[in-house]
Amino acid sequence: MIKHIAIIGAGQMGSGIAQVCATAGYKVLLVDLSDDHLTKAQENITKSLDRLITKEVLPSQAKERTLANLSFSEKIENPHSLDLVLEAVNENLDLKIHLFKNLDDLLPPQAIFATNTSSLSISTLASNTARPQQVIGVHFMNPAPLMPLVEIIRGQETSDATYKEIEKMVQHIGKTPVLSHDFPGFIVNRILMPMINEAIFALQDGVATAQDIDIAMRLGTHHPMGPLELADFIGLDTCLSIMQVLHTGFKNDKYLPCPLLEKYVKSGWLGKKSGRGFYEYTKI
Ligand code: CAA
Repeated sequence: MIKHIAIIGAGQMGSGIAQVCATAGYKVLLVDLSDDHLTKAQENITKSLDRLITKEVLPSQAKERTLANLSFSEKIENPHSLDLVLEAVNENLDLKIHLFKNLDDLLPPQAIFATNTSSLSISTLASNTARPQQVIGVHFMNPAPLMPLVEIIRGQETSDATYKEIEKMVQHIGKTPVLSHDFPGFIVNRILMPMINEAIFALQDGVATAQDIDIAMRLGTHHPMGPLELADFIGLDTCLSIMQVLHTGFKNDKYLPCPLLEKYVKSGWLGKKSGRGFYEYTKI
């Protein structure tokens, strides 16, 4: 049974995942090499909890309870007590392989290794550990505290026991799980990213302004955000890297990233986080 969880990587996804797990009662250690990231994560979690309490999504006692279940560290403390480690570090396959190899020596043999990767191969990560049956994808949507879906991705060797344990955990934190097999982009990004990429082609072709493309999709198809606004929100570098994974993985030119997307990323226009993407943002 999962009780103690370490989340590696205190960026937006890692801190959001740590928050929802701690709110659900798990003991969570959030680990990051950077002390600054940990401080920022702590601030963001507090802010996020305040917003959820104001919106009456959570009761007011949830803040104290969640914070009491969370600890922050620059290294993995008490690795022997961990039942699950979930990595949310940068989308770099070599980095993730290196991390899982190191964790393999540190953690008890029964511990589960989960990755929040948005599109990289679970089977490749698993094959670089001595526990491929206990490696699994657990992909949260952004922002993790608000989005109700979690994709669970089974690698080639993921065991039924590992899958069931993770499915139970996802349900326990109040999210709805869907099962995806290990193909590039899984379910959500395989469908979402080509749509975003097409919206960027439409902008590049001069079909309409960014505003009108977004209004069309918001009001015409009831999406909460238009595709360009959503791309800015996700990060244009992330969108590009997922398109590249789809293109390389399926060897099909229908997944070629739009040149305008590549140009923006090369220019450092990464969306909301850099202050500039398809829109300008004053608050970075
Ligand atoms: N915790 C964290 N972030 C919060 C939050 C909370 N409690 N409450 C709100 N937010 C964030 C939003 O990101 C946004 O940022 P800022 O205000 O700080 O600029 C803002 O708060 C919006 O807040 P609102 O209260 O105005 O918005 P809302 O509650 O009405 O809805 C939303 C916000 C849920 C994000 C909604 O706009 C939405 O559903 N958008 C689409 C999101 C989506 O599609 N996500 C999936 C992306 S794909 C993915 O994640 C997969 C991948 O691998 C790339």
